[in-house]
Amino acid sequence: MEKIVSLCKRRGFVYPGSEIYGGLANTYDYGPLGVELKNNVKQLWWKYFVQQREDMVGLDGGIILNPEVWKASGHIKNFKDALVECKNCHHRFRPDKLEDPSKCPDCGGSFTTPRTFSGLFETTIGPVEEEGTVAYLRPETAQNMFVNFKNILDSTNKKIPFGLGQIGKAFRNEITTGNFIFRTIEFEQMEIEYFISPDDDWSKVFEGWLQYIYGFAERIGLERQNFYNHEIPEAERAFYSKRTIDIEYKFPFGQDELWAIAYRTDYDLTRHQETSGKSMEYFDEATKKKYIPHVIEPTFGFDRTMLAILSEAYAEEGERVVLKLNPKVAPYKVAVFPLLANKPQLVELARKIYSDLKKDFNVAWDERGNIGKRYFAQDEIGTPWCITIDFDSLEKNDVTVRDRDTMKQERIKIGELKEYFEEKLK
Ligand code: GAP
Repeated sequence: MEKIVSLCKRRGFVYPGSEIYGGLANTYDYGPLGVELKNNVKQLWWKYFVQQREDMVGLDGGIILNPEVWKASGHIKNFKDALVECKNCHHRFRPDKLEDPSKCPDCGGSFTTPRTFSGLFETTIGPVEEEGTVAYLRPETAQNMFVNFKNILDSTNKKIPFGLGQIGKAFRNEITTGNFIFRTIEFEQMEIEYFISPDDDWSKVFEGWLQYIYGFAERIGLERQNFYNHEIPEAERAFYSKRTIDIEYKFPFGQDELWAIAYRTDYDLTRHQETSGKSMEYFDEATKKKYIPHVIEPTFGFDRTMLAILSEAYAEEGERVVLKLNPKVAPYKVAVFPLLANKPQLVELARKIYSDLKKDFNVAWDERGNIGKRYFAQDEIGTPWCITIDFDSLEKNDVTVRDRDTMKQERIKIGELKEYFEEKLK
């Protein structure tokens, strides 16, 4: 973990939040490479889960919703955890997450009696902090999709079964710290609410989504052997769920929840119908029956996905550190180097290749130090291919393309570079 955290800061993937003010616990900022990696993963997710499926459409809802939403969803009442504080070192823990809840894992001290605290982030709307102006930052993106269920039916031609996908920020007042971007107070989720008929076999739909999720893992370069499906027993399930599988991943600090899939029944839509007084029923034209749909929810913690991708890609090979990222998610696809920075002809041709490729790919430029150092610098940030323009390039119109993983080099005609990389990125 330490090596990954250090690389993330050194090379601009992830910085500690508000660092010049001493930081703020459990907050991070994504740097220039982090934002590229993030955008690539989001695009792949959106394409795979929304655009490539006929039964899916997207949504981008707000972070602040009418507080009634959280009353209806049960979060105001139920989204609470117990907290204990060590009487000696004053570190705070959730007793349910401790292996031995009788003593502090940091110093062995004894705990205060547990207190409950709300995981909801409160804010106030308007200039005066008065009764009725309290609002909450959403603790899950899911509720936007439930409260817009009727809008979706009225504005699209979707028929059940169909689903909604959304990527966005969520906020939770987390008290346990550590493990980098694994648990933060502000994070992103990529969630799906898939609506089915109460007569459908929900367990079949559930299994189908579970398999489909693993197709995404493969696309972003995460190996199946690093995953574990953890069936959550009833007593530990969220208040809205009839079945939950936590899709756990072998992080460098241990196996823990990466994604999850839950059968939320008709809990949310029913609660919104009761609380808002608006019908959430669906009219099935084929059977002429009205019903409140049931929901299967695949959910993906986005920042945890980033951590899994970075951990799986990190490798040390002899002197070099290499991020073996799937080229589709790599921040830069290609780096372009003139062999010598003080030879104007080489630099000119290299600049031309760089600007031409930049129209189609995210391309890095480097002319510092020697070629070996430049390769190592690109390996460390996961750039799959490096192009070197040398004296032969001026004569023969070709360049050396070096592969990050095999370190093999081949000569490619300058006019064929675009197709060459497009083919590799298919
Ligand atoms: N809508 C269902 C839901 O929110 P959850 O299991 O509470 O379910 C979904 O959260 C995912 O969000 C988790 O699998 C995890 O990846 C991510 N997540 C939850 N809390 C997080 C936190 N504090 N920091 C980063 N990711 C978090």
